[in-house]
Amino acid sequence: MMSGRISSSFINDLLARVDIVDLIDSRVPLKKTGSNYVARCPFHTEKTPSFSVSAKKQFFHCFGCGASGNAITFLMDYNHLDFVEAVEDLAAFAGIEVQRESDVGTGLPEKKDISHLYNLMGSVAAFYAEQLKQNPEAKKAVDYLKVRGVSGEIAKSFMLGYAPKDWNSLSDRYDAKDLLETGLLVARDGGGTHDRFRGRIMFPIRNKRGHVVGFGARVLDDSLPKYLNSPETPLFSKSNEVYGLYELLNAKQKPARILIVEGYMDVVALAQFGINYAVAALGTAISKTHVELLFRFSQELVFCLDGDAAGRQAAWRAMESVFSSIKDGRVVKIMLLPQPHDPDSLVREQGVEQFEQRMAEAATLSDYFFGQLTADLGLATVEGRAQLVEKARRYLELLPHGVFREMMFAKLETMSGMAALDVSLNKAKLNPSRPRKGMGQVRRTSPSRVALALLVQNPELADLLEQEELDWSDLDFPGCEMFREIMSIILRQNPSNVSVLLEQLRGHQDERLVTKLATMELLVPDDGIKAEFLGAVKAIVSGSRTIRIEKLIDKEQSEGLDASERALLKKLLSSSN
Ligand code: UTP
Ligand code: MN
Repeated sequence: MMSGRISSSFINDLLARVDIVDLIDSRVPLKKTGSNYVARCPFHTEKTPSFSVSAKKQFFHCFGCGASGNAITFLMDYNHLDFVEAVEDLAAFAGIEVQRESDVGTGLPEKKDISHLYNLMGSVAAFYAEQLKQNPEAKKAVDYLKVRGVSGEIAKSFMLGYAPKDWNSLSDRYDAKDLLETGLLVARDGGGTHDRFRGRIMFPIRNKRGHVVGFGARVLDDSLPKYLNSPETPLFSKSNEVYGLYELLNAKQKPARILIVEGYMDVVALAQFGINYAVAALGTAISKTHVELLFRFSQELVFCLDGDAAGRQAAWRAMESVFSSIKDGRVVKIMLLPQPHDPDSLVREQGVEQFEQRMAEAATLSDYFFGQLTADLGLATVEGRAQLVEKARRYLELLPHGVFREMMFAKLETMSGMAALDVSLNKAKLNPSRPRKGMGQVRRTSPSRVALALLVQNPELADLLEQEELDWSDLDFPGCEMFREIMSIILRQNPSNVSVLLEQLRGHQDERLVTKLATMELLVPDDGIKAEFLGAVKAIVSGSRTIRIEKLIDKEQSEGLDASERALLKKLLSSSN
């Protein structure tokens, strides 16, 4: 068996890609009732079905025996697999290969103190930048940058540098063990070490907080490899970082759009021309982690790719990585460049205006998606249209629920002429006429429990709560700690649905409780979730105020209040709601 941990981002992607309904249905035939699917429970003997699968939550739950979980849990329980085996089987079901972290990789960054490694990387980047200015040998590098039209100012803002040809310029200055750990030094087969980067122009890769975490390094001529990159280290993982993000955020905290290009030089050249909102993937395909990272800063992502076959293939892959992240309001565009250009050469040849014009005319995700599919399949025949429906649905089902998803399904119906598409899942959402029994259940639970259950079942509510800008230190209610912790997990990990969230809590002390919250029947119609949630939050806030007032009054009577406590009490008593 291969070594290496399965990365949690891979597991999240996998859970977002597989439909638990398809998975379970292939083992235990399901019947649709309302918005759920039901069957007789495979985990205990029963005559009437109490086993229910929710497509929205990507979660199963048996009201009879209490079994519950996501797709991975289902395979573990149903086929008696351990965790890794279940992930492998699920990946096979989805037709994708399991990705593992390399052994050196990003295993335990937060457990070890790595701040000295950040410091080292910063010093080394400064050393390289200094060499570019001072080392006579670097004159060739300076000339090269000049020929490529990079100004001193831009070189400075990207902290470009030069790595001397010397085999040991770093180990003479810094600690060898740290240099090895950050990938700056390579261990020789026969013992000893040497600098990884020599005689190259250095592009420091900074994370969004401005720490140098890795380097790209270009040769000055046509020799190969053209670029060397830092390996995966405790600081650096290619699938989590993009080049240029820190520099972009320095220029604009909230860019209207982010342009995703392929090369270091593309980012630098575009910035030189005033297009200071480009980033580059680091010689890998754009991952869902990249996409989620970038969507935090802008609502619009434009993928800019070469117009050749490889570029078009990359465009399709980029699109796949983005589907499950397209919540309402988020926009994705695909910009294919005329051959043989890359952004660097195009902006130099045609100027900023034409470049931005092309960007404005870039294909929307929806046009690009259907354009590619129909070009491949053709719509002239019934078979072609049926294939289109089959193929398109697999992707569209990855889209989070919302207007965009509805529109994409509607477009598919129009294009295929097949009105009888099984998009009932969506239809059910548009038509919230199910009987609403059992409301009493909701009323009996406390607002904090309702809010937490809503949050767990709809992790996207975390964004809404962030916008409320609550001062947590003002809050005091039962379960407050847990609420905060779940909020922070959601904000950090951005789970696309509750099944992904629960995966992140596997083995965690709160797992059982959160599972309970996930299966709680709230009976809130989809279009009422936000209002219900905000209402519950408001109730928490005012409840907290009452609790704090009561505590202060108690204290006043028992031991008396100091000046600041008295001021606080006065403030609490006079504040409205
Ligand atoms: P390109 O070959 O398109 O690079 O590779 P570029 O940025 O346009 O470089 P110039 O213009 O020739 O200087 C795109 C990206 O692929 C990765 C790098 O991240 C590069 O920026 N790459 C390419 C490598 O990692 N190694 C290579 O040998 C080549
Ligand atoms: Mn180039």
